[in-house]
Amino acid sequence: MSMPLIELRDVTKRYGKDEPVIQGVSLAIQAGETLAVVGPSGSGKSTLLNILGALDSPTSGQVLFEQEDLAQYGDDWLAEFRNRQVGFVFQRHHLLPQLTAFENVLVPTLVTRPGWKDTATERAERLMTRVGLGGKMHSRPGELSGGERQRVAVVRALINAPKLLLADEPTGSLDAVLAGSLVDLLVDLNREEGVALVMVTHAEALARRMGKILELHAGKLGKG
Ligand SMILES: Nc1ncnc2c1ncn2[C@@H]1O[C@H](COP(=O)(O)OP(=O)(O)O)[C@@H](O)[C@H]1O
Ligand SMILES: [Mg+2]
Repeated sequence: MSMPLIELRDVTKRYGKDEPVIQGVSLAIQAGETLAVVGPSGSGKSTLLNILGALDSPTSGQVLFEQEDLAQYGDDWLAEFRNRQVGFVFQRHHLLPQLTAFENVLVPTLVTRPGWKDTATERAERLMTRVGLGGKMHSRPGELSGGERQRVAVVRALINAPKLLLADEPTGSLDAVLAGSLVDLLVDLNREEGVALVMVTHAEALARRMGKILELHAGKLGKG
């Protein structure tokens, strides 16, 4: 087996003196793989995703990205790591209301890749067209439907060509039909872009579209 893209080794997370939210979790995600994370509300799904994306750090255990332990790096390095290697999509789109869709998807390119403007612009145009929003690039989020806003959020997550795409209940505010088509799109983009996809979802039918399902119960991993 090839080396994992990202690996958790015996990861535990606790807040203060409370019971651990995540306990003894180990998992390995290969480049380009798709994985669903399911489990009841409060079981630690978002915490797990945040640890995978270096938005949060474990209380104990290791997070290895391409075999490098993230614990050795400081905040600046981790911020650049998130910007370059990880894309996030959340239940709410978190688009900036005063910017157009096109400007929103370019925001992550402004931070650490000022010299990448032409490439980023071409990529933004290509991806916006790819997700069916070629005609809506200059619309503001308030002028878009819920499904369209989530597609803009997906393009923004992919704009820096990350190796890992993390989606935390990305379909949570969509109806079943739109939810299904958003997940289809995520899986298609996973293949086309070669990006590993980890998706948290409540919907079993959506989870089954991923290559693997992991189930969390009170912070511990089982097989879904
Ligand atoms: N920043 C935090 N401080 C304290 N407790 C937290 C924090 N974030 C999450 N928790 C707690 O951790 C548990 C798991 O939360 P979460 O990972 O959001 O679960 P899920 O996404 O599966 O609903 C919950 O009991 C939640 O209240
Ligand atoms: Mg959650």
